[in-house]
Amino acid sequence: MANAQFNAVFKEANETRKRYRVLMGGAGSGKSVNTAMDYITKLSDPKYKGCSLLVVRAAEASHLNSTFAELSRAIIRLGLESVWTIKTSSMQMENRFTGNYILFRGCNDLRALERLKSVTVPSGKLCWIWVEEANEIKANDFEILDDRLRGKLPDGFFFQITTTFNPVSASHWLKSRLWDYDDKNTFRHKSTYLDNRFIDDEYRERMERRKTVDPAGYQIYALGNWGEIGGVIFTNIEICDLYEKRFDSFSLGVDFGFNHASVCLLVAHYDGDIYILREVYAKGKTNAEFIDLLDRAKIPRHVLMFCDSAEPDRIKELRQAGYKAYPVKKEPNSVMRQIEWLQQRKIYIDGDCTNMKREIQSYRYKKDNRTGENIDEPLEYDDDCIAALRYSIESQRKLVALKSMNKSVLGIW
Ligand SMILES: Nc1ncnc2c1ncn2[C@@H]1O[C@H](COP(=O)(O)OP(=O)(O)OP(=O)(O)O)[C@@H](O)[C@H]1O
Ligand SMILES: [Mg+2]
Repeated sequence: MANAQFNAVFKEANETRKRYRVLMGGAGSGKSVNTAMDYITKLSDPKYKGCSLLVVRAAEASHLNSTFAELSRAIIRLGLESVWTIKTSSMQMENRFTGNYILFRGCNDLRALERLKSVTVPSGKLCWIWVEEANEIKANDFEILDDRLRGKLPDGFFFQITTTFNPVSASHWLKSRLWDYDDKNTFRHKSTYLDNRFIDDEYRERMERRKTVDPAGYQIYALGNWGEIGGVIFTNIEICDLYEKRFDSFSLGVDFGFNHASVCLLVAHYDGDIYILREVYAKGKTNAEFIDLLDRAKIPRHVLMFCDSAEPDRIKELRQAGYKAYPVKKEPNSVMRQIEWLQQRKIYIDGDCTNMKREIQSYRYKKDNRTGENIDEPLEYDDDCIAALRYSIESQRKLVALKSMNKSVLGIW
């Protein structure tokens, strides 16, 4: 074994043979690294010759930079490069010694679901499924996965589904279906960054800072406790692969930052719903560097771009670079108006928009310190993508507002 070391907190988890292995935890607790190393170890073990692994995420495209990368790193950490063939183009891994495979699938759209249902391993048996960021998938899709693991197994083999996730909301199906459901087939495990001996001091300090600036997020991401119900602002979201879809129109939203992130979102509109297709997210960049990133991400210049009005000089530079950049006029209470408008439609987010996904899942209302009740005002923490999203919908929102005014005044619509 090269220089691989496991975190001790996962010892029992790596030994259990129970059908449902539920690895819940705060951010950076080591769940993903451990799961990747555990599966590479097992799949390389001759006693499991003939067992294959299916790795599932909501959006198939997001495997490449997460699970696929993590499993590749695990192969290197474990010094097993000589026995594993990693095929990046077909997203497949094979252990030449055991003949075991790792396949990758998504499940949040019809095409991906069909590919998932028809998945077959080239040889041996599909024994294990790892659902990474399981909070992004639907309860029904979990049942489909569960159905895949059946039939007779040779002695010594076992079926197992591993879920790894942050406990984002106590109303999530993961809590009722897996965490609270007490049966002999379920192994439950909770970990936090404090269990991860590879975490650095800077990360620890960031987590501690969150205790004061974002207490609700601290509960979930630092302590690994279930997020409360009610405080989350956007529950109308779905993570998916957004390729080959047709849309009515497009817009861009830009929020400027330096210590905070500068963000540009490419957003599509269809049938009243919102589709977040692409994000550019960068900290510590000058405007010229940010524009360079927009170019590299192929952000279209012909689409209207709505920007934070606080930085007219940066807007001017964007216009000089050929973008159709406009400031968004701020009105009293416009943040809550934009939020309410967004809450009334479905928001689809491409799986590759990792920062958007993180922010929107933990975007919460402020709390009244005396009563503990939520206030109608968002907590301003880790919300740079949210700001860009709010700007991106301004033309749509104002258009709809105008239409509904006409409707009431003229009785036409
Ligand atoms: N066994 C290990 N060996 C070396 N480094 C590790 C190990 N486990 C964790 N780490 C380090 O800790 C970091 C966080 O671990 P990991 O990504 O597994 O956390 P996580 O629990 O999946 O977090 P999240 O909930 O945010 O997805 C990794 O990026 C890696 O640097
Ligand atoms: Mg992880």
